[in-house]
Amino acid sequence: MDIKKVLVADAVDNACIELLKKYSIEVDCKYKLSKEQLVQEIKNYDAIVVRSDTKVTAEVIQAGKRMKVIGRAGAGVDNIDVNAATANNVIVLNTPGGNAISACELTCSLITNLARNVTPASASLKAGRWDRKLYSGHELSGKTLAIIGLGRIGREVALRMQAWGMTTIGFDPIVSAEEAKQFNTEFLPLEQIWPRADYITVHTPLIPATRNLINQKVLNSCKKGIRIINVARGGIINESDLLAAIKSGQCGGAGIDVFEQEPPTDPVTLELIAQDKVVATPHLGASTGEAQIRVAVEVSEQIIALTGKSKDYTSTAGVINRSVLDKRA
Ligand SMILES: NC(=O)c1ccc[n+]([C@@H]2O[C@H](COP(=O)([O-])OP(=O)(O)OC[C@H]3O[C@@H](n4cnc5c(N)ncnc54)[C@H](O)[C@@H]3O)[C@@H](O)[C@H]2O)c1
Repeated sequence: MDIKKVLVADAVDNACIELLKKYSIEVDCKYKLSKEQLVQEIKNYDAIVVRSDTKVTAEVIQAGKRMKVIGRAGAGVDNIDVNAATANNVIVLNTPGGNAISACELTCSLITNLARNVTPASASLKAGRWDRKLYSGHELSGKTLAIIGLGRIGREVALRMQAWGMTTIGFDPIVSAEEAKQFNTEFLPLEQIWPRADYITVHTPLIPATRNLINQKVLNSCKKGIRIINVARGGIINESDLLAAIKSGQCGGAGIDVFEQEPPTDPVTLELIAQDKVVATPHLGASTGEAQIRVAVEVSEQIIALTGKSKDYTSTAGVINRSVLDKRA
C-alpha cells in the first residue's frame, strides 16, 4: 500500500514520527485542529495518527479522499467512526497491547489505595487533621478479587494481586475454566461471582453486553461493603447506581479512571467523584512514559507493515476492520 504522507493529529511520542521518517514517510504534526480544519487538512494525507482527542468522524473520513489508514496510538477506537471508515475502504488500526501493563498497574494501585484509604487520609492530613481512627483500613490478604474480562489486562491484574494474597475469580465469555486456571483464577458464572467478591474490577470493552454490567441489581447481590474498580471504559458501571450504593453503604468504595463522559460534567458523575470513598483519576490508565512510547512505536510499525517496505515490521494485528485489509491486499 502506498503511504507517502501521514498527519499526526494528537501529541504522540516522538518515537512514532522518527520511525515513519526512517521509512521515508513524510510526517506533519498538526494538533488541536478544529473539525473544519481537519476536514480541509485530511485531503492531503494517506494516513492519520490520533490518540483520544481527535474525533475521526464520517465527515472527516469522507473528506479524506486519499486516506487509506486511521491509526490510533492506544487501545480501543472509540473516537473513530469505524463503520464510516469500513464503508469508505479505510483501514482502522489500534495498538491494544501497548498499554496493558500500565492499565494493569493503575488498577492494582487503586485496589491497594482503597484498602488503606490512602487518598482520603492524605487529603485529611494535608487539611491539618490527624484522623488515625477514621482511616483504618483492611488487609487484602485473604480477600477475593473478581475480575470481569480475563483478557490482556485482567489476567495481569490477577497475577499481581495474587502476590498480595488475594484469591482471584473471574468471568469472560471467550476464556475457558482451564485457561483461567493457568493464571490461578477460578472461572465462575457471573451470578456466582457477585456474592463471593470483596473487590470487583472490570476489564472488558464497552459493548452492548457490558454497558451497565455493574448495576443496582448486581451491587445488591454483592457483600455489603463491596469495592468496585473501573480502569476499562466509562459506561460499564452504571454511575448513578454506584453513587446510590456508596451513599447507602452497600458499596464500600470505588476506584474509577474512566467515565461515561470525559471530562465529566454530568451532576451524577461529579457527585460520584466527590465522594470520600471514591478515588478518581482522569483516564490515566495508559498515561505512563513507557506505554506512550510503546503505542507510538506500535502504530508506526503497523503503518510501515501496510506499506510492505520492511522485513522487520509485518504485523497488522491491531487492524479492527480486517475486511478492508483483505480488500486492499
Ligand atoms: N483506562 C485506560 O486508559 C485504559 C488503558 C488500556 C485499556 N483500557 C481498556 O481496558 C479494557 C480491557 O483491555 P484489554 O487490553 O485487556 O482488552 P482484551 O481485549 O485483551 O480483553 C477484554 C476481554 O473482555 C472480554 N469480554 C467481552 N465481553 C465480556 C463480557 N460481557 N463479560 C466479561 N468479559 C467480556 C473479552 O472476551 C476479552 O477477553 C478495554 O476496554 C480497554 O479499552 C483502558
